[in-house]
Amino acid sequence: MHMRKKKWARPELEVCPYFHDFPENCRNHWSEVFPVRQRLEMELGCGKGVSTARMAHENPSVNYLALDLSADVLGDARRNLAAAYGQDPIDNIHLVKCDIEYISRFIGPEDPIARIWISFCNPWTRNRRHEKRRLTHPRQLMQYRDFLLPGGEIYFKTDDDTLFDDSLVYFEASGFSCQYLTRDLHASGFTPNYITEHEKRFVAEGIPIKFGIFRKEETVADFDPVHWLPPQFSAKPSAPCPEGGSAHV
Ligand SMILES: C[S@@+](CC[C@H](N)C(=O)[O-])C[C@H]1O[C@@H](n2cnc3c(N)ncnc32)[C@H](O)[C@@H]1O
Repeated sequence: MHMRKKKWARPELEVCPYFHDFPENCRNHWSEVFPVRQRLEMELGCGKGVSTARMAHENPSVNYLALDLSADVLGDARRNLAAAYGQDPIDNIHLVKCDIEYISRFIGPEDPIARIWISFCNPWTRNRRHEKRRLTHPRQLMQYRDFLLPGGEIYFKTDDDTLFDDSLVYFEASGFSCQYLTRDLHASGFTPNYITEHEKRFVAEGIPIKFGIFRKEETVADFDPVHWLPPQFSAKPSAPCPEGGSAHV
């Protein structure tokens, strides 16, 4: 779907004190952009930030970085943050415009990321050659490992079965262990769940949301993530995680 360009987004972001257009300047120093040094989490492909705004406002003891490629959607995210915070200072979240495929240029090993949220990233299912652009592909996961704290987690949800099944293989290959898994998040009773803009749409269409928590393990087998291929093209994981786990974390 073609999105109409939002003429107001750029000018509003350019005067926004928590927007970053040149994030490479903050690499390894993201903790310092916040008034309080505290736990740091990151959302990849935040889109219009509907859930991001709620999550950040409800968790003032966590600092957040919300990344997206598009200034247009980050303009919406800025407006959604302003609406969610009202009179409260917006001091625990920064919006970062960047291409996550090159995230190592913007986030460094000294940035202590405790958790990554990936919600409804583009599935890239039409052409196998495009799979490496998925935000859960080993090419990406191996970059995230560089800044995720030991034991740091990735919270991943999607409507797409193929992307979810393939991602289970990606996580395992990249040294992440599955801590929780459900193929129907809304029926699972798992909390907290911050419903995103895309999630609302899929739920309305009756599509179950697939969700998992994946923890960074200390070691990972040596491999080339750029040229990585799944064990078999059609391979499904050998159930790296049984469904279930604690519904409250
Ligand atoms: C399908 S939307 C999901 C948005 C939001 N997470 C939600 O659930 O409503 C995917 C978002 O990821 C962003 N995105 C896709 N590829 C990206 C990349 N390589 N770097 C940064 N953002 C990307 C898009 O601009 C878009 O806003």
